[in-house]
Formats: sequence, C-alpha cells, structure tokens
Amino acid sequence: MTAHFQTPVSETDPLIATALRDEKTRQQDQIELIASENIVSRAVLDALGHEMTNKTLEGYPGNRFHGGGRYVDVVEQAAIDRARQVFGCDHANVQPHSGSQANLAVFFLLLKPGDRVLSLDLAAGGHLSHGLKANLSGRWFDPHHYGVDAETEVINYEDLERQAAQIKPRLIIAGGSAYPRQIDFERMGRIARKVGAWFHVDMAHIAGLVAGGEHPSPFPHADIVTCTTTKTLRGPRGGLILTNNADWSKRLQSAVFPGVQGSIHTQVLAAKAICLGEALTDDFRTYAAQVRANARALADTLQARGIRIVSGGTDTHLVLLDLSSKGLTGKRVERVLEAANITANKNAIPGDSPRPPEWVGLRLGTGAATTRGMAAPEFIELGTMIADLVEAEAAGHAEEVIALCKARVAALCARFPVHA
Ligand SMILES: Cc1ncc(COP(=O)(O)O)c(C=O)c1O
Repeated sequence: MTAHFQTPVSETDPLIATALRDEKTRQQDQIELIASENIVSRAVLDALGHEMTNKTLEGYPGNRFHGGGRYVDVVEQAAIDRARQVFGCDHANVQPHSGSQANLAVFFLLLKPGDRVLSLDLAAGGHLSHGLKANLSGRWFDPHHYGVDAETEVINYEDLERQAAQIKPRLIIAGGSAYPRQIDFERMGRIARKVGAWFHVDMAHIAGLVAGGEHPSPFPHADIVTCTTTKTLRGPRGGLILTNNADWSKRLQSAVFPGVQGSIHTQVLAAKAICLGEALTDDFRTYAAQVRANARALADTLQARGIRIVSGGTDTHLVLLDLSSKGLTGKRVERVLEAANITANKNAIPGDSPRPPEWVGLRLGTGAATTRGMAAPEFIELGTMIADLVEAEAAGHAEEVIALCKARVAALCARFPVHA
C-alpha cells in the first residue's frame, strides 16, 4: 500500500496531472475578470488538500452520527463562530456544499411545494436557484420575478412594493449574480414584512464586500441570509446560511442535514473557517475597498471609451457591459478577450434576448485581479485593452490588437504573480 499513499498524481495519472498543471499555468497567464471567481490563499488550499477529506461525519458539533469527529468539531465550531462574527448575526450553518444547496435548504425550511416566491429576474441579474423554471426551485415552487426600472436599470422599490402586494409571496429574495448596484435591504425588509413574506438575502456575490464593510449588511433587515464562500469572500467552493431567528436555528440544522444534504465536506469546512478568519483582518478590509475602487476605475475607463455600462456604473465588484451599440454579442467579445488572455463571461442584460448566444451583455468582476495586487492603474490599462479589443472586433480586424494586448497581459501577469 505504500505506493497508494506516496505516489504523486504526476506518476499515477498523467492525464489529470497535466490538466492540473495546465490549469495552474492558465491561472498565472490569464487575467481573471469573471465576477464569481477569486484566488484563494495558500492556507485555504492547504486545507482543501488535507487528509481531513477522509473523515465521514454527519450531524453537528457535539452531536454526530459517527465517531472520531473531535477535530472536525473544532473546525466546524470555529467556522460557525467566525461566520457569526464576520456577518454580525446569531446563528450560522456552515455545512452547505454550495450556494445553490444553501438556497435549497432555505426553501426547504420556509416553504411548501407550490408556495409563491418573488425574486430578481434572471435578465435583471438574478440567479437560477431563485426560481428558474429549469431549476428545482422553479419546478417545485411558484416563482414570480421583479425586474429593474427600464430607464435607470436599478431596482424600482415602489414597483416592487406594488408587485409584492399583488402577488403576496411567501418569500421575497434579494440578490443575484449580475446586479452591479447596492441593494436597499432595509427597504426590501419593510416590503416583505408589509406583505407577510419572509425576507431572504442571497449575498453570494457581495459577501466579501459586506464582510469588508463595503456594502451595507443584510442584518438586521433579512430573516435569513445565504452566500457562497467563493467570489468576493475569497474562500473555498461552498455555502453558508445565517440568521438571527433563534426559533429557526434547530430547524435550519435539520433543513441542511438531513433535509437536503448528507455528510459534511470536512476539508472544505476547514477551508471555510480559514477564509472567514481572513475576512476578520484589516488586510481583508483593504482588499474589499480596493475591489470596489478597481470596479469604478474599470467602469469609468470603458464608459469614457463609449461602451455603455448597464445602470451607468457600479457600487460593487461587478461591471456589466452592453455591447449592442457596437453590434456585438457577449459571446463574441468573450472569445476575443480570451484570445488576449483576459477571461470574462457573456451575460444577459435587462431586456436581453432569452437566447444566450444572442446576449449583448458581458460581465466583468474585479475580485481575482485585485487579489493579485492590481489597483486602479492596472484596471485602467485593462479597461483600455478591453475597449481596444471591442472596437477592433466591431471593425473586423481584431487579430493585430489581440497580439498587442496579449503581450501587455503577459507583462501584467509577470508583475502580479499568483501563488508566487
Ligand atoms: C447569487 C447567487 N446565488 C447562488 C449561487 C450558486 O452558488 P453555487 O454555484 O455554489 O451553487 C450563485 C453562483 O453563481 C450566485 O451568484
């Protein structure tokens, strides 16, 4: 068995070893502008590759279904305590395997099949786990959606209030994956209470900004809050559920396990505890402020070059471009950027086509490149390159500009190495 314990992947499985090596090189050589991505610390990576992954455990600290859980108990309790401290709330469940699982557990806790849910429309920046018909949340519940104002492209809270009064949902959800503006949690909480709905905030994208004091907290306005530990929070792939409601804390535990999940991803729990510890530091606050400053620098640069920014700007890490006036789709620009080693993704914008290949939006986010150490001057340079690439693609001669940008990206990557 010695070989089983000691032979590295490079010797046992060359196919996967090569893909792992190439992915690491890709991350070093490309500038990551996908808004849901980030670069975790060495400490988080250490935990993810730890032997704790071997441990099977169900239940909660002090009340497990298996023996041998005392060190995982330490880790889970630390993650719970830190989550409560980071987000200023009374109860935390740190077991959800992902953001979608966290949302599913909230549905399981608060709703019965067929109950009405009111959430942000996908084209206005919502998330598929908030009631998309193709998702279980849309299949088993009765989803209704609010959008954004046609002119300002931000949530119109008066319209939302009218819609909520008409629909009388059991649950109102705030948050999404492509909404670049600050959300008024206080106002939405009032609307929910007025119509007798629970108020759920899914802060997956902005959790790091909330933790770093760069976005108002959903507490005390939300009844329940979910997030991923990826994205701006800069941790492992996984989810959290937070609440101040003491009556729910036990039921919430059973909603996660055995409601929608089985055993814990124990090594991920350790990584979550580490990332939440990092979120309590002054360095994290500095990072969060830089993430937002960088997004503003990027948006301003692109806007000055005549590219329309959805809602006219950003309050977060996220910048959404409307490429329609350039006659381009998000898909086409995503490809051109990738050819220059800049990674981003096509996205729907308000009023967009229902067909993804026709979407005219491109979503950019500043988390990962900020973690590399890039600041406003670098984001101005990135914005300039993106504008050059968009103009060249629109004019039908992108090849030369791609080559030039690729060299500039390589120089930036060399100045800001990953895991160096
Ligand atoms: C707002 C929101 N909620 C939930 C999720 C789902 O998270 P996961 O991919 O971990 O299931 C995402 C992921 O992009 C998201 O943006």
